Amino acid sequence: MTIYLDNAATTAVDPRVLKAMQPYFSKHFGNASSLHGFGQRARAALEDAREKVAALIDSKPEEIIFTSGGTESNNLAIKGLAWAHPNKKHIIISAIEHHAVMEPCEWLRKHGYDITVLPVDSYGLVDPKAVERAIRPDTLMVSIMHANNEIGTIEPIERIGAICRAKDVFFHTDAVQSFGKIPIDVDAMHIDLLSASSHKIHGPKGVGCLYVRKGISLVPLAHGGGHERGLRSGTENVAGIVGFGEAAAIAKKEMAADAKRLTALRDRLIKETLKIQDSWLNGHPRQRLPGNANFGFRYIEGEALVLQLDMHGIAVSTGSACSSKSLEPSHVLLALGLRHEEAHGSLRVSLGKFNTRADIDALLKVLPQTVERLREISPFKRKYK
Ligand SMILES: Cc1ncc(COP(=O)(O)O)c(C=O)c1O
Repeated sequence: MTIYLDNAATTAVDPRVLKAMQPYFSKHFGNASSLHGFGQRARAALEDAREKVAALIDSKPEEIIFTSGGTESNNLAIKGLAWAHPNKKHIIISAIEHHAVMEPCEWLRKHGYDITVLPVDSYGLVDPKAVERAIRPDTLMVSIMHANNEIGTIEPIERIGAICRAKDVFFHTDAVQSFGKIPIDVDAMHIDLLSASSHKIHGPKGVGCLYVRKGISLVPLAHGGGHERGLRSGTENVAGIVGFGEAAAIAKKEMAADAKRLTALRDRLIKETLKIQDSWLNGHPRQRLPGNANFGFRYIEGEALVLQLDMHGIAVSTGSACSSKSLEPSHVLLALGLRHEEAHGSLRVSLGKFNTRADIDALLKVLPQTVERLREISPFKRKYK
């Protein structure tokens, strides 16, 4: 038995998505820039996918630039905007951004930019008023994620977007975790740039997009044949983009029902897990992604818990997939105000559309005894007792 509860890291491709992609590997394999029928069929499929992705965030299709995923989209948004507007050298982000936002900003810092990193409260929420106070005449952009990948907290981006619009500052949001899970409307939320990724919504890996509001200029990361309105040169990954489009169309239809079902599963998981002694919930109790639960367990190491649960055939994680192999505690949990030893004992359970009540039952059956056993051998327990 193998139960997958790590959907924030990546998801299984939906069989309907796979079916939609298949013809574009061998039958309709044309280059979307070619003039002949093969090329035209590829181009038509690409534009159809663009419409489906745009529909999920209420944007225009021509505002969608296909990329290789969330990391590239964040880099293009941040560095591309910075290079296109060299007169403004101040950027505002939050302390819980994904590394794919943090690192491009750190890189820009080394090249003369000033980066303000705003703190979050103990639930992981950014204060919109703090954003407003941090904006200066030389502020180029604010980049605040829509929902956090580790703790699932949903940020008040509509209010942050409104502040940015009023102050004439660009607003980018990393929506990799929220896209297709909760409603997004780029106009209502005053979003100028938005990053999304296909593999978090049961689409293939290696595909994503950047929404770029009409009229905003960016400098591309890679120069070449001028694909994707000159912003992302390189022959398009047609099959991958078709899969992304299909996954977005399915999400649009099924998002509301999935969110309702997953929220109920999540809340049951939280209620039962918090019966374990010395445990707590990381992130906001209500303002969080439908499929995310992140727990802290005192006196144990999250990694040990993940490995033990893996032996029971249950796949969960300690934090973000990219950083969970490092021994450093998560910067997100530290930003909430947790102590190092508390941040080390975290467990992220992230549900996807293929999870059932039986999966949660299976986890709940082994979790209390696994925590207990690890505590018995824990050096922390003796130290802090
Ligand atoms: C919030 C967030 N941003 C960016 C990324 C990176 O996306 P990708 O894996 O498509 O590069 C992830 C993936 O874990 C994420 O969770």
